[in-house]
Amino acid sequence: MINEKLLFARAYEKEMETQIPKTSRPKFHLTPCVGWTNDPNGFSFYDGKFHLFYQNNPYDTVWNAMHWGHAVSKDMLIWEYLPCAMAPDEDYDSYGVFSGTALTMPDGKQLLMYTGVRKEGGDHGLDIQTQCVAVGDGLNYRKCEKNPVIDVADLPEDMSRNDFRDPKIWQDEDGTYRCVVGSCRADRSGAILQYRSKDGFAWEFESILIENNNRFGRMWECPDFFALDGKQVLICSPQDMLPEGFEYHNGNGTLCLIGQVDETKKHFTYDHHQSVDYGIDFYAPQTTLAPDGRRIMIGWMQNWDTCDQQGAKERGWFGQMTLPREITIENGRLYQRPIRELEQYRSNKVEYKNVLLDGTTVLEGIQGRTVDMEITVRPKDKEKIFRKFSVWFAQNEQFRTSVSFKPYESVLKLDRKYSGSRRAFINQRRAQVNTNNGELKLRIILDRFSAEVFVNDGEQVMTATVMTDLVADAISFCTDGQVEMDIVKYDLFEE
Ligand code: FRU
Repeated sequence: MINEKLLFARAYEKEMETQIPKTSRPKFHLTPCVGWTNDPNGFSFYDGKFHLFYQNNPYDTVWNAMHWGHAVSKDMLIWEYLPCAMAPDEDYDSYGVFSGTALTMPDGKQLLMYTGVRKEGGDHGLDIQTQCVAVGDGLNYRKCEKNPVIDVADLPEDMSRNDFRDPKIWQDEDGTYRCVVGSCRADRSGAILQYRSKDGFAWEFESILIENNNRFGRMWECPDFFALDGKQVLICSPQDMLPEGFEYHNGNGTLCLIGQVDETKKHFTYDHHQSVDYGIDFYAPQTTLAPDGRRIMIGWMQNWDTCDQQGAKERGWFGQMTLPREITIENGRLYQRPIRELEQYRSNKVEYKNVLLDGTTVLEGIQGRTVDMEITVRPKDKEKIFRKFSVWFAQNEQFRTSVSFKPYESVLKLDRKYSGSRRAFINQRRAQVNTNNGELKLRIILDRFSAEVFVNDGEQVMTATVMTDLVADAISFCTDGQVEMDIVKYDLFEE
């Protein structure tokens, strides 16, 4: 059942894990046990714990030969590594065990559904992508003998055999299993295909759930499809997006469509579209239901175009997951808030009310690289709105990352140009935000090597990795004009 490739990966990660000091990792954002990670996979609650698998190349800090790494957690913040769950060890997945999802079966077993990649015509041939399943007990998984359970013959006419991946599986109330899979047409315009199954193993094509028609990027990767707050939601990660106004600046971006599904035709239509995250590093999110009914989303805290390898080999890992976020639909939009479990790890509260900022200000007790800060800013004088408010963090004489707000433009900017990267990667993002006469609410969460900025109680989020040396831990405020600020700051996960 467990073949050599998997045993080798398990032994390798066990040995390497001890060589990567905990201090080189974030405190509560999941990194791979060793090597490279991209997408989160199989995010689920199973057997009393949250399980998170991840696209993983254990042997290097760059993408190659995808395995499924595995971690579990009680609270989605403190993760424990489990042995690698799947290696690319079968003919049908020998070029990679690509992304997928997980589900609990009626017999109590866990079903993993993923994309197996094989080559047609030798090593330099075409990638053929199919959908496969594996069954396990939360630790060991057996790939199904009938794999691939959805083969290229199950594709509707004119869909790509080469871009056919990332199944999201769920079970409907009547017991029917369904999954959605990303694919595209010959011009690479994305489509989401829906399949159904009575038992999770024998699948048939059901519908083209929605087609991109070249509207939002090209191929749609990593679809997720679920009901939320009376609406139907499709989240996916389109490749090659074109920016539209303040939306979709990331090339490989994220898309949230909110609408409804025609239950007869199994066709989805949307009334609203938006980016999921407005920062630099966010891709391939997936969601799961917590036992208490919350829908939680986690994403890859990276962007394919900004995978800066600086320092990665020495660290031994590359790639982080985002903070899990509780998602809701409010005012017709996707809202995201940090999971409430984070609050139990707050300590050393420092609070200031109605601080007058004019120029540069440093506040006693406000510093650190693992912090949770709630900031509200407003003009000191309602008749005279300030021109700019900035918070600088991960800062010393040489380095800083900033979040700046210009009320006249209603624009919030995240900028890590001076964070220490020696590569001219994309380092800035702007988002159009809602402001009430210059008032704005931010919650900034830092975890050593990242910043997640939740705007106006979760109306928008901007996320970026910040790989700055940890000695740069100052936080300061800089304004052009007079700003009144309330701030509550906590340390997170203080030992
Ligand atoms: C998205 C993605 C998926 C694929 C995986 C491969 O980041 O390209 O579509 O399954 O990564 O690692």
